[in-house]
Amino acid sequence: MAETDALSATREAYDAVAALYAERFRDELRNRPLDRAALSAFAETVRASGDGQVADLGCGPGHVTAHLHASGLPVFGVDASTAMVASARRSYPDLRFDVGSMTALDIGDGALGGVLSRWSVIHTPPHELPPVLAEFHRVLAPGGHLLLGFSASEDAAHPTQVFDHAVAPAYRWWPDHLAAMLRRSGLAEVARIVREPQPADLRQFREVHLLARKAPTRPA
Ligand SMILES: C[S@@+](CC[C@H](N)C(=O)[O-])C[C@H]1O[C@@H](n2cnc3c(N)ncnc32)[C@H](O)[C@@H]1O
Repeated sequence: MAETDALSATREAYDAVAALYAERFRDELRNRPLDRAALSAFAETVRASGDGQVADLGCGPGHVTAHLHASGLPVFGVDASTAMVASARRSYPDLRFDVGSMTALDIGDGALGGVLSRWSVIHTPPHELPPVLAEFHRVLAPGGHLLLGFSASEDAAHPTQVFDHAVAPAYRWWPDHLAAMLRRSGLAEVARIVREPQPADLRQFREVHLLARKAPTRPA
């Protein structure tokens, strides 16, 4: 698939801030117990469902990829920004990071036990999201899990809202709306964690970690 204007703009914007971003977010999970809980539940669920590899799609500087690796998952990162991938490789030289896009992944059908997309689909314009979710479904093995992190929109009447992100145009979603899109892509919701905005947060948005599963193959 040809790179869309939105993806080119996002990639160039993250190329420009990769070093700053890595510095700012390297240790962010330390103060984010609910994110760690979501990642830990994801890791345990993926392990319990089989041995498949896990991809952190839109991995940025790789700190979350490294966190999953430390929890014992066979994980690699993919990001559209070459500068982000270079930064991740420098910080975590023992881990694998590839340049690539969620819109057309260089990953085989059913190759993965898990997909993490943490605040990376926020930069996908709403009309471009269904093909991205279809890619997540394609690369997951039957029974594989997706953990999707995103910011919530205000209410059901505004299922998607553009927001003022510091790096690139971004969108937030009404959680039920995104869960329904996932369901239409063949990914059924398993659970969600919704974190209310906290006074110290940069943005006063609810944050959502949504765990979904591709249907397992039925026994013959
Ligand atoms: C807000 S950062 C999140 C980084 C990391 N997942 C984290 O939790 O900190 C968004 C990242 O998604 C990447 N990204 C956005 N759209 C992408 C796409 N279509 N394919 C691959 N990476 C993408 C950006 O380059 C950027 O590194």
